[in-house]
Amino acid sequence: MSDYTNEIKKRRTFAIISHPDAGKTTLTEKFLLYGGAINTAGSVKGKQNSKHAVSDWMEIEKQRGISVTSSVLQFNYDGYCINILDTPGHQDFSEDTYRTLMAADSAVMVIDASKGVEAQTKKLFKVCLLRDIPIFTFINKMDREANDPFDLLDEIETELGIKTCPVNWPIGSGKEFKGVYDRNTKNITTFKAVSTGGQKEAQTTEISINDPTIDMIIGPDYHRNLHDEIELLDGASDPFDMEAVSHGKLSPVFFGSALTNFGVENFLKHFLDMTTSPLPRKSNIGEIDPIKEDFSAFVFKIQANMNKAHRDRIAFMRICSGKFEAGMEVIHVQGNKKMKLLQPQQLMAQERKIVEEAYAGDIIGVFDPGIFSIGDTLCTSNQKFEFEGIPTFAPEHFARIRQVDTMKRKQFTKGVLQIAQEGAIQIFQEFNTGMEEIIVGVVGVLQFDVLKFRLESEYGVEIRMESLPFEHIRWIMNKGLDLNSIKGITDMKKVKDMKGNPLLLFANPWSIRTLLERNEGLELAEFSRD
Ligand code: G4P
Repeated sequence: MSDYTNEIKKRRTFAIISHPDAGKTTLTEKFLLYGGAINTAGSVKGKQNSKHAVSDWMEIEKQRGISVTSSVLQFNYDGYCINILDTPGHQDFSEDTYRTLMAADSAVMVIDASKGVEAQTKKLFKVCLLRDIPIFTFINKMDREANDPFDLLDEIETELGIKTCPVNWPIGSGKEFKGVYDRNTKNITTFKAVSTGGQKEAQTTEISINDPTIDMIIGPDYHRNLHDEIELLDGASDPFDMEAVSHGKLSPVFFGSALTNFGVENFLKHFLDMTTSPLPRKSNIGEIDPIKEDFSAFVFKIQANMNKAHRDRIAFMRICSGKFEAGMEVIHVQGNKKMKLLQPQQLMAQERKIVEEAYAGDIIGVFDPGIFSIGDTLCTSNQKFEFEGIPTFAPEHFARIRQVDTMKRKQFTKGVLQIAQEGAIQIFQEFNTGMEEIIVGVVGVLQFDVLKFRLESEYGVEIRMESLPFEHIRWIMNKGLDLNSIKGITDMKKVKDMKGNPLLLFANPWSIRTLLERNEGLELAEFSRD
């Protein structure tokens, strides 16, 4: 294999999806420790040591107390070059979190063993389904009291609609957590929690399930129970099918404990082995092969520079094919322009550095003088093509905004439009009116604060915000439908987006159902690809 091919083949680009507190940061940190990218646990996130203290623009956000950045961590492990895409959770959950998933080739889903499938996991999972990417499940916190493992698998299957195939199986949980049984090797890895230097860790030994001392080690009850459960699993669970895994139809499941570092390296090894190197991406001229094609990339995120004096931005792009070299000339397809990508940079675990070269699978950030939009394609080939667009995701919070000083109309409109263009907010208008009143939709409520802050600090416009009682939005898919013909219901609003597409806002999911019952043939969609 040539060096070039090897560089691409060894790349693994994935996102970790989970509900806040399931252990995503802890697991990421353990991955980084294995990769030698960090030396001590606690450097990714600690109470005094914010995980966003990794670059200066994030530093600015930190000072403002607002974090809006998703970052990428790159490190090497076991011959692989790994790119982990961070999907911010908690209050900084935003549309960017969804978009980041568009740049991943696979996902790791972390589930808290005592909580099962939670709301944010469901939302992120839906986005993964759009592209049928492989999803690997890590059921975390087995060192704490956990739900029954069969119930957990059942919940994943019914709540998320993906089949599961446990690779290992837990023996007890919490204080009684004895370890896991590996269904391939038929060995048991035992678990014993110890504390070293303030860090919790697991002491492990590996023994065959047929070892005569097993009764003594895990206890006769657990031993008997394990045999019954294995029999049940072998009979009832879906067989391992790599084809189904690679199309996101079957999720390999691993049980472990990130905090005590139990089962993490085993998971990482299996995951890297089973997951995919950069996948071909769809474009308007067919699939773009990551190795055969020259450099191409698409923009999935635009980050405004928080420095007032420089209103420039950073565009993050996922390289889909070929090799990027600093200083090379590329075509910005949507702008129909040849250009050089300026100040290309990459986040290597703890620092931001200028990129000299990067390959398909990598993410780079480049200086954006205000020309890129989300979804734009860059390529070097003479045959220009466009990658499939990034969907617009449904906002869940809505507010009507107005400028306080009516003389500042121009700045207000300009600011709102620019911030919407970056993809930080979505804007809508009442169906039958102009731009006097703007309805803003966001995925995470923090975006409202960001909007208010940025309009004041960057555009000198103070705004009033009135929150609206809507939580659901649907695009109308019937082409050319007259909105006036829709038989409405009371808690619904007809709006249009900036491209003039008609949409409906609803206060609750029942209204959506009622509306569909009343209007036969009406087609509504949760994502828009226009
Ligand atoms: P997140 O990024 O998904 O939000 O979760 P994070 O890793 O920050 O973990 C959330 C909490 O769960 C943390 O505790 C963390 O130590 C704990 N945790 C993660 N994995 C495990 C595990 O395998 N077992 C147990 N028992 N706990 C786990 P915290 O007290 O909220 O924060 P901290 O003070 O430890 O940082």
